[in-house]
Amino acid sequence: MPHYVAAIDQGTTSSRCIVFDQAGHIISVAQREHRQIFPKPGWVEHDADEIWQAVQGVLAEAATGLDIAALGITNQRETTVLWDRATGRPVCPAVVWQDTRTDALTRALAEHEGLFKEKAGLPLATYFSGPKIRWLLDEYDLRDRAERGEVLFGTMDSWLLWNLTGRHITDVTNASRTMLMNIHTLAWDDELLAAMGVPRAMLPEIRPSAEVYGHTADGVPVASALGDQQAALFGQTCFAPGETKSTYGSGSFLLMNTGQEPVVSKHGLLTTVGYQIGDGPATYALEGAIAVTGSLVQWLRDNLGLISSAAEIETLAKTVDDNGGCYFVPAFSGLFAPHWRSDARGVIAGLTGFVNKGHIARAVLEATAWQTREVVDAMNADSGLDLTTLRADGGMTADNLLMQTLADVLNVPVIRPMVAETTALGAAYAAGLATGYWPDLDTLRANWHKAAEWRPAIDEPAREREYRNWKKAVARTLDWVEQEVEH
Ligand SMILES: Nc1ncnc2c1ncn2[C@@H]1O[C@H](COP(=O)(O)OP(=O)(O)OP(=O)(O)O)[C@@H](O)[C@H]1O
Ligand SMILES: [Mg+2]
Repeated sequence: MPHYVAAIDQGTTSSRCIVFDQAGHIISVAQREHRQIFPKPGWVEHDADEIWQAVQGVLAEAATGLDIAALGITNQRETTVLWDRATGRPVCPAVVWQDTRTDALTRALAEHEGLFKEKAGLPLATYFSGPKIRWLLDEYDLRDRAERGEVLFGTMDSWLLWNLTGRHITDVTNASRTMLMNIHTLAWDDELLAAMGVPRAMLPEIRPSAEVYGHTADGVPVASALGDQQAALFGQTCFAPGETKSTYGSGSFLLMNTGQEPVVSKHGLLTTVGYQIGDGPATYALEGAIAVTGSLVQWLRDNLGLISSAAEIETLAKTVDDNGGCYFVPAFSGLFAPHWRSDARGVIAGLTGFVNKGHIARAVLEATAWQTREVVDAMNADSGLDLTTLRADGGMTADNLLMQTLADVLNVPVIRPMVAETTALGAAYAAGLATGYWPDLDTLRANWHKAAEWRPAIDEPAREREYRNWKKAVARTLDWVEQEVEH
């Protein structure tokens, strides 16, 4: 009987389980959404119990009756869960990566900015787990219990590994998003912990991204954990320094493999761990994180009702020939890379009586492309290399107009691989390597096949004019949130 590898992809909007065969083909898929809880402007919460239920559901649905050789995990990153060691139940809502409630707190930590940049490889931002832990300890009065190790912290990988195997562990890629791990030593760092005010007793043990962590109740080895963007890097088989991918989901994340040395960015990118296979050395990456891309399409659907499905954005955008002078900068969670401005908020600029919903739809798609352009410019400047092609994946790559717009604004070809579910594929690859299902990286590389390619089709003056307008619109998002005010 053939056997397979299963991956759980615990995302921001949904949890998926995908089963792959040895050729990297999809055998089965199950998916369940969970609630996005918005208690006030800028706040985003999840219910960790609801997510664990969804994960159990999709695992059963996709894998029952199949012979599963290994299970891998990939997850939305930075989202912070605190739970009670004795009962195993969450003690507060999970604070999601997009949440900006720690804005004032991160500003109060400004004296430590250099320390975090140097040791954790990260700018001070509401995005990362550290400030969220600190806020929850203070708000829910949990510090004493956390110091005694009665209240535990974990990102979603940790929360799932705890429930699946009973161990309190995390993988090194997820740990690299907390601001608490020293990116050079790959260990929790006392100076970072003291600056953030987080007790060590509540932290999980840091493990490699691929090794057998334990077994499920059914005896399946749980053998990988990677943050979703690192998993996509792995699934796109970007194993060599310089290889780069960009994933288009709720947000979009461009990562470049930088080999075995962490490269500190001078242009607003993050230094992060790409992956670590077993006892091998860690591979690092430079990352351009964009908070809002696909979630803007969902916002148009759910909050404005302009479309009834995400795919309709393309149809609506094609009712017009261009953006009609309209630009949409979705700084809903402030601006991430390369700006890192938590005081920014969204704007639609260039409005006239001429602009209709078709133009807005175009501006929505172009926002994803221009945000990518800003990150690619930063990546080129940091690496000293010019990106020559963009390997794209994720749900938004179903949108042909977006893919063409990306090629146009980046002025490089954009390619999409056969398996656009690279996040789950990467987690499956890592779990399969850890258990001997796949022998080596070359075997995985041979599984990568191009499905489609888009080539630049606009002229340079048009590209430059549009980029100038985009930058003017970005400038108008800044300085919106005032220091004293909560939202
Ligand atoms: N045809 C389309 N055109 C534009 N955007 C689309 C299209 N189809 C899906 N999307 C967007 O892509 C996103 C879904 O992509 P994907 O499934 O990769 O994200 P995800 O992995 O579920 O996100 P997350 O992991 O953050 O939960 C949604 O935000 C949706 O709005
Ligand atoms: Mg995802």
